[in-house]
Amino acid sequence: MPQAHFVRDYNRVVRQMVAVEPDYEVAMARAVGGGPYTEIGVRQRRILESLGLQGTDYVIDIGAGSGRLATALRDLPKLAYLGTDVVPELLEFARKKCARNDWTFKRISTLEIPDKDQVADFVVFFSVFTHLTKKESYCYLQEAKRVSKKNGTIVVSYLDPKNPVHLEMAGNLLRYRCFKIMGEGMLNIILRWQHRCLRIIRKRALNQLLSREVLDEWAKKLNLSVEYLDVVDQIGQSACAYRLAQSSSSGESAVSR
Ligand SMILES: C[S@@+](CC[C@H](N)C(=O)[O-])C[C@H]1O[C@@H](n2cnc3c(N)ncnc32)[C@H](O)[C@@H]1O
Repeated sequence: MPQAHFVRDYNRVVRQMVAVEPDYEVAMARAVGGGPYTEIGVRQRRILESLGLQGTDYVIDIGAGSGRLATALRDLPKLAYLGTDVVPELLEFARKKCARNDWTFKRISTLEIPDKDQVADFVVFFSVFTHLTKKESYCYLQEAKRVSKKNGTIVVSYLDPKNPVHLEMAGNLLRYRCFKIMGEGMLNIILRWQHRCLRIIRKRALNQLLSREVLDEWAKKLNLSVEYLDVVDQIGQSACAYRLAQSSSSGESAVSR
């Protein structure tokens, strides 16, 4: 079976990073987006705490990378943790940095979450949907719902097409300008294909934008509530928290802004 784009591309990104950066620790920090490694991990932890994280919870960290969040959580002795990623070097670095023998770091190569139904208090995707297609992210969200406890929370960070900085990060400022003038539709289709072609030529990992309309639509389809979090200044990305909708019996989903 051919390798998924996210496995192929992210392994290549990390290999290239290690090849050009002589300091392995710096390379591992850059591979997950750069910026202050420790501080960003602490901010990610604060987001989970603001959503009710308890010291005895079970956190599943999808796309755990080199362990920014895991490192920030390691002083919680009763916290259970599973980190997954598609790049073994990143997981190995995270495992060593955390020094938590009771925690699991697992390499994966599909969009499955390697655990049972209804076990997790938190399923976290920090800067992961940013590198997947919308179809892939939706599959992952379904998986996250499967492994979440009834009162569990799913945290997703994303690049918002309404934010010019995010558009620039996604290499898509041109699209923003055109969007303002022409609206979506044909333009979207043309530019999506243009983006794919450029990615193949430049051999970069995909950078995906996600609008609130799409995130709301997923909530509705999966009968989840969605809360938008005011964290863009803290982690550089927008974020939202999905929960099983309280009104599940009526089949409605709730959106709070
Ligand atoms: C920008 S980094 C963010 C890492 C980490 N969440 C953080 O905030 O420090 C994105 C990570 O997602 C991983 N990744 C990409 N596609 C993935 C997938 N389908 N499943 C799990 N991890 C994936 C990459 O290998 C990389 O470590």
